[in-house]
Amino acid sequence: MEGASQVILRNENRLAGESLLVIDPLRDMLAGRLQRDGREVRLSTQDFAAFRWLEAAGFGASFEAVPEIRGEERTLVVNLPREKDRLVMLLHALAAGMSRTARLWLVGENRAGIRSSPRHLQSFFGAVELLDKARHCALYEAREPLSERPFELAEYEMRWSLKAAGRELRMLTLPGVFAHGRLDSGTEVLLEALAQLRPAGRVLDFACGSGVIGMAAMLADADLELSLLDSSALALESCRRSLRENALQATLLPSDGLTNAAGRYDWIVSNPPFHRGVRNDLGVAEDFFREAGTFLAENGKIVVVFNRHLPYQQWLQREFAQVDRLDANGGYAIVRASHPRPRCGNRA
Ligand SMILES: C[S@@+](CC[C@H](N)C(=O)[O-])C[C@H]1O[C@@H](n2cnc3c(N)ncnc32)[C@H](O)[C@@H]1O
Repeated sequence: MEGASQVILRNENRLAGESLLVIDPLRDMLAGRLQRDGREVRLSTQDFAAFRWLEAAGFGASFEAVPEIRGEERTLVVNLPREKDRLVMLLHALAAGMSRTARLWLVGENRAGIRSSPRHLQSFFGAVELLDKARHCALYEAREPLSERPFELAEYEMRWSLKAAGRELRMLTLPGVFAHGRLDSGTEVLLEALAQLRPAGRVLDFACGSGVIGMAAMLADADLELSLLDSSALALESCRRSLRENALQATLLPSDGLTNAAGRYDWIVSNPPFHRGVRNDLGVAEDFFREAGTFLAENGKIVVVFNRHLPYQQWLQREFAQVDRLDANGGYAIVRASHPRPRCGNRA
């Protein structure tokens, strides 16, 4: 059991038989422990990988950008998100939607910044109290939600734009989305390379975040058939908003790695993730390189950008017969891979 979940359980006696909504639960058995004795526990997560984990562990959960509040919850338990602006957005949504007599618990690790959260809680609640400190974590309770400002997700959008194929691509991103409100420098290097390579046909933007890579490619080729895949509900919601803003169409794929991908693509483009949850982890990228070949059409290509110090080129060479380094600007490498090596268990 994670430290933050242990702190919740240390305080379980305060919950009596109340119904709970747990937001962004960790991948552990907390929900099962809280459900004992018939307590009603709902789970809401913005992370599709956590959603899949919870489902596999036998807990029903909702995958959603903003937790649905039904009004009957007596306690909302929030795991501290990594990004402060995502915390503020969540607290606003919850304070605006919850019953005036309900309470919110915010739990998180010291190293994730839980000690600085009271000031954010005080912006949305009349009463804030430290309930417990243990296992390098702290648990705060907030009561008396202030409801002067109704919650609108659009209030948290950041608008930015870039030039792609001589046109303006207007982006809208939400808190918690990678490079919120700006173009990442590694992504920019990839966009320059793709402007020369000109992806066409069926294109998958893997770990798409705001969707900027796929959408920029679409401005250059209106016939391109785009799929945008990410594990973050906020990323996919940002994509939905940017597509609408630019009158573009694409398939949105919530997925943990390639687990929900289907069919074959002429191009897979990506700036792959280098963390899982709050921890640095190259596992998602490694799994992606291992699986990606099975989703390529004949002569299909993968193009990725990554920090030069990462071992991705060797990993790609294990999986693909043709691997070319295209560029290495500003500490980044661009690599194109094609012709997946035959593997046992490859899809027909
Ligand atoms: C480095 S960002 C790139 C975002 C975007 N392509 C860009 O360049 O701005 C990596 C993305 O991977 C997503 N991600 C992390 N873990 C994932 C997983 N298991 N499956 C799918 N996407 C994941 C994150 O939500 C994030 O949007």
